Amino acid sequence: MKCDSFGNNKVIQPLPATPSADRNQEAIYRALYPRFLARSQVLELGSGTGQHGVYVSEREPSICWQCSDTEDKLDGMQAWVAAAHVPMPSPIVLDVVALDNEPYLNAQAYDLVFTANTLHFVSSEIAASLVKCAAKALLYGGYFAVYGPFNDDGEFTSEGNRGLQDWLEARDPKSGIKDFQWLDKVASQAGFDWYEQVPLPSNNFIRIYKKN
Ligand SMILES: C[S@@+](CC[C@H](N)C(=O)[O-])C[C@H]1O[C@@H](n2cnc3c(N)ncnc32)[C@H](O)[C@@H]1O
Repeated sequence: MKCDSFGNNKVIQPLPATPSADRNQEAIYRALYPRFLARSQVLELGSGTGQHGVYVSEREPSICWQCSDTEDKLDGMQAWVAAAHVPMPSPIVLDVVALDNEPYLNAQAYDLVFTANTLHFVSSEIAASLVKCAAKALLYGGYFAVYGPFNDDGEFTSEGNRGLQDWLEARDPKSGIKDFQWLDKVASQAGFDWYEQVPLPSNNFIRIYKKN
């Protein structure tokens, strides 16, 4: 993926907002910062509004951050990217369970694949597809960084997560907070080595894996 595909972004006002992204973007940036190389190519899966990519790109303009999500999120991502103070590639539609995402993923062109608040939001099957997509998209030695809440061997890591789990199940019974151990296993099957965990505010974590 070259960082030269700018333009075609719609400016929509007001920009769609995700308050949780406002709260956690600085902590996420600080945790990811040591993994960035000059001119890093980053793919974000399940970007939502694209706020995280804009926040990082404005602080690290040499990074090429590609936002992606399902088609219903495209207008919102385009609006955020169009309003960014640095050039960013046009967001792409990348459904992690769709078969037509192969052209993006087979490139193995990315140094870092990042995803935030996605794994608990979807079923285990979709979450496992997301991990496989990350493995396909990354260069060997590249990092896969996953931000969000996790359980530890079936146990909640905070009382707040219990309430979150109830909310998730009411919305989609197949969704739910995944175990650290589940992600480690799925990541290992996809070709990742364990690298590091960074605890972040509000009982969230970034789990980082390295493509072997
Ligand atoms: C809770 S939101 C998180 C959005 C954003 N990453 C953030 O932290 O604010 C979960 C995101 O996962 C995306 N998602 C769900 N299923 C997906 C799929 N099959 N492929 C790609 N993204 C998906 C949703 O569209 C949504 O934007």
